[in-house]
Amino acid sequence: MTISERGPSGVSRTPTPDELENMSREQLARLASELDDVEVIHNQRKFPIPGTRAERRAERSVALWFAVSAIAGLAFLGAFVFWPFDYRAPGEAGYEVYTLYTPVVGLTFGLSVLALGIGVVAYVKKFFPDEVSVQQRHDGASDEVSRRTVVAQLAQAGQDTTIGRRPLIVRSAGVAAGVFGLGLGIAAIAPLVRDPWKGGDDAALWTTGWRPVGGETVYLRRDTGIPDEISLVRPEDQDAGSMETVFPFRESERGDEEALFHGLRRADSPAMLIRLRPGTEVVHRDGQDGFHFGDFYAYSKVCTHLGCPASLYESQTQRILCPCHQSQFIATEYAKPVFGPAARPLPQLPITVNDEGYFVATGDYVEAVGPSFWELGS
Ligand code: FES
Repeated sequence: MTISERGPSGVSRTPTPDELENMSREQLARLASELDDVEVIHNQRKFPIPGTRAERRAERSVALWFAVSAIAGLAFLGAFVFWPFDYRAPGEAGYEVYTLYTPVVGLTFGLSVLALGIGVVAYVKKFFPDEVSVQQRHDGASDEVSRRTVVAQLAQAGQDTTIGRRPLIVRSAGVAAGVFGLGLGIAAIAPLVRDPWKGGDDAALWTTGWRPVGGETVYLRRDTGIPDEISLVRPEDQDAGSMETVFPFRESERGDEEALFHGLRRADSPAMLIRLRPGTEVVHRDGQDGFHFGDFYAYSKVCTHLGCPASLYESQTQRILCPCHQSQFIATEYAKPVFGPAARPLPQLPITVNDEGYFVATGDYVEAVGPSFWELGS
């Protein structure tokens, strides 16, 4: 065997099976570098003398980040599972706590990921050896020798990073990663943990402010900018070919500022009342024949794509437009989508005119309002 066939590791560059079997992990790791034409120019451990105060300090600072990640992950889990998330209207008891649900869940989850990432980066910066290597490029699949040596090289690299003798970091990183993984797992099975359909037909996602309660009449009102100024809607108020935004109102709410404010601000309250031009041809959806009153049709204003207000009405084409992603719904065909990403018609509100000549809702929507994914549990 010539000299050139042996590398600095002292073994043949193409060892026999016996030689391979008897090589130490360090030899295999070095052989891996040689086989890959990698030349290590410089390799310097960060803490050549183990156990110094500086090393312990560095170790603690890394573990601290993993501990922060674990604590934030636990806080995320706690908030996700126990924080009240059921919808509360402005002014209702528990509204402030409800509005904090998303920020708290987002912040704790974000901090958990951030601290975990910083911990990993800090560990690499503080403990990985400084190394400069140069490798010649070569092509082709790896043979058995290469595969064995690469595994050894990785193990050797792990040893060089001194992770094996740093139980504090290993344990804290393990706890942080475990809690983080648990959080991801909980999020993946979220509907089993926090059931948004709790309550069956009365679940918050199925009902809106238009739902009749105790047989009380639900009127259509307009928003004048003053919550306790009640302006009910009558057919003669509206021109043919126009649209008006309407909200639910009950007589029992008169004088009750909170309830009136709630009726106007509740996310699923706004509906658009459209008056088609006389003689306009209309296609009704199965089961919704009686939902309109003459030329008047009422549809939810909440876009079925992602929930923006679909509030632009083009009277010439009778299209309702959502400005967010340009979905278009045709008012003469039960507001079915005809353009853009929305895949579901805008829910139609059943309306009529009462004996006093005011518009009233005869019931709640018969399908979920808003983005289609809300219906996936049905
Ligand atoms: S939210 Fe209306 S088109 Fe996207």
